[in-house]
Order: sequence, then C-alpha cells, then structure tokens
Amino acid sequence: MEKLKNDLFLRACLRKPVERTPVWMMRQAGRYLPEYRAVRAKADFLTMCKTPELAAEVTIQPIDLIGTDAAIIFSDILVIPEAMGMTLEMHEGKGPIFPSPIRDENAAKNLKLITPEEDLGYVLDAIKLTKKELDGRVPLIGFSGAPWTLLTYMVEGRGSKNFAEVKKLIYNNPNLAHDLLKKISDAVAEYLNAQIDAGANAVQIFDTWGGILTPRDFRKFSLDYISDIVGKIKRPDIPVIVFAKGVHYKIENIAKTGCDVLGLDWTMSLKKVRKEVGDHCALQGNLDPTTLYADHEEIRKRVKQVLKSYGKGSGHIFNLGHGILPDVPPANAKAMVEFVKEESVKYHIQDID
Ligand code: CP3
Repeated sequence: MEKLKNDLFLRACLRKPVERTPVWMMRQAGRYLPEYRAVRAKADFLTMCKTPELAAEVTIQPIDLIGTDAAIIFSDILVIPEAMGMTLEMHEGKGPIFPSPIRDENAAKNLKLITPEEDLGYVLDAIKLTKKELDGRVPLIGFSGAPWTLLTYMVEGRGSKNFAEVKKLIYNNPNLAHDLLKKISDAVAEYLNAQIDAGANAVQIFDTWGGILTPRDFRKFSLDYISDIVGKIKRPDIPVIVFAKGVHYKIENIAKTGCDVLGLDWTMSLKKVRKEVGDHCALQGNLDPTTLYADHEEIRKRVKQVLKSYGKGSGHIFNLGHGILPDVPPANAKAMVEFVKEESVKYHIQDID
C-alpha cells in the first residue's frame, strides 16, 4: 500500500477518524490562478490536457499555492466524447463546442467504443506523472462526467439554457437516448477503472446537469447509469464520489448507488442530508462558490456555518458547492482553506483516542 503523508481526504471519504476536516475545491486547477494562466498563455486548453508535463504542473499548483488536501487531475469531462470520435473545439469565451452534435441514429452509429489505454492514454500518463511528482504529499482524484451530463453536451453541441435538443431526444426517441447512455456508461466505467490502475486514489463522477430533469427522468436517464458505473468500479479503498447538481429531491437515492461520498451543492443543508444518509455516505461540500468574493471575515463566518452544519465527527470533506469561479482572488481561496484547517479541529477532538 502506498504511504501518503496526508491522507485526511481518503480517511474522511471512508468515514474514518481525522484530526481536522480535509478541504479541496472543484476546478481548483484553473484560471483564477495567475500561475495557471501563465502556462495557459503558452498552450491551448486541449494541448495542456494532452501534454502530461503541463497537466501535472497545473494539477499540483493548488497544492503548493492554496494548500488543499487533495489534487484533482487536470483534464476535462469532454475528453470521453472526443475519444469516442466527436470533434471537440474549445472556443475562447464560449467554452467547449461539438460542431457536429449527435441528433440521430446515423450520427450515433459512428461513435466508437473506447480503449482507455489507447484513446485516453494521455490522461493515464498525466496521472502517473502527477503521482510521481506529488511524491505522496496528498491523494490524487480522478474523474469523469456522468453519462447524462456527457449526453447533454454531445446532443446540444455546446452549453445550453433550456436543453431543448437533449429533451427532444428523451421524449421523442428514448430508445436512442438509452442506447447512447449505455454506450457512454461502458466508456466511463472503463475509463475510471483505468484511472485507478494508473494511480488515482479516489474518483469523482460529475453530473452537472442532473438537475435539469424531473425526478422521474433523473432516475431513468441519469441515476440508473451512475449506479451501474459505481457497481463496476474496482474496490475497496478507492472512494467513489458522486456530485450531482440541483437534485436535492433524489439525494437519498444517490446514496443508495453504493458511492462512498455524496457531493452537495450549496442549496442543501449538510445537517439535514447527514440525518438522512449519514450511515451510508460521507458528505462533500458545500460553500456557495460566490462566498469567495466576500472579505475574509465573512468567508470565515460562512466556513464556520458549513462546518457547524455537518457537526462533530468524521465523514465531511469541505468543498465549494460547485467549481471555483475564474475571477476569484486566489488570496480568498487560500484564506478559506486556512479557515477550514483552523476551525474544524474542534469537531474532531473526540475522534483522536
Ligand atoms: O477540478 C479541476 O481543477 C480539474 C479540472 C477540470 C476542468 N473541467 C478543467 C477546465 C474538471 C474537473 C472539469 C470538469 C468539467 N468540465 C465539468 C463538470 C464540472 C463542472 O464545473 O460543472 C464540465 C461541465 C466541463 C465542461 C467544460 N469545460 C466547460 C463548460 C468549460 C468552459 C467553461 C469554463 O469554465 O471555462 C470547460 C473548459 C475548462 N475545463 C477550463 C478548465 C480549467 C477552462 C479552460 C481554459 O483554461 O480556457
């Protein structure tokens, strides 16, 4: 077994005792850091993803600069559709675009099954190199998009307001939607297992767009596929985190997928969710990301509120309720991390003996 110098994150995921609450931030390797922008000035986003040396460098930046207790591999959820054969373009200011979205059987037929080692080998190489460079300082998290969130991008072709195209697909051609979701799920399961084999210490599934579905459709078109994937992930000792945004109505069902950690957005109460699912899962979250625009006193106050809401004992991983925003001052992110480290000790005193 690998010896980590700081394994607070992994212990909290498995609800084992910790001395203080671990903390990391979704999208922590990103544009709010001038050091990230300096690397990004020399290479476009996809080149960074596909160059293990650059991916490893920006993955480790927030560990050095912000002091988080886990690293998350620098990549993107959209590398899977690209590996399946779709053309992916990253447009400055507009975000990712698939110029030929999938709208019918014909387009779907062209999607290929992936072999992670061949089609996404650059991510696996980035994981191996990052692990080497981290030298056991903190655990490394691998990740994937959930099948539903990947399908929304593959069908819409870009970010969307109403998600009209993917909704048309599930209402008018549910069989095709399910065929696609099944194909994507197989790719996600293989990809996450390959990341674990390459050295990832935990994996997170991002269902950013779960919340655009009705509760019933969320179960049918998202949750069933997430459950299937969680069941296929190699265990034990590798925590699986499911972060689905805007799905408070299904949080108990997500806990039943067998995942170790539930990621919560800031609209939910940690206290209430802990009461409902605390015997099954650890909880990750859930400071409103815009809190980092406030002054340090206000940030400390709100960090304390989140810690208090979870309460005493292990099983809480502090995080934002969604990704860090690109115009947040890095000093505020750093202050938040320091406040979590200081203020959380008193919630764990009874765990030490
Ligand atoms: O968390 C991390 O630091 C690891 C890296 C990471 C990125 N994207 C880097 C990135 C992770 C985990 C993601 C996940 C991701 N990507 C999600 C799910 C999480 C979420 O935030 O909801 C989604 C929906 C995407 C798709 C995506 N990628 C969008 C919508 C965009 C454009 C919007 C934006 O934030 O710019 C991207 C680009 C992207 N992915 C950037 C980064 C650092 C910015 C690219 C740049 O440097 O220009």
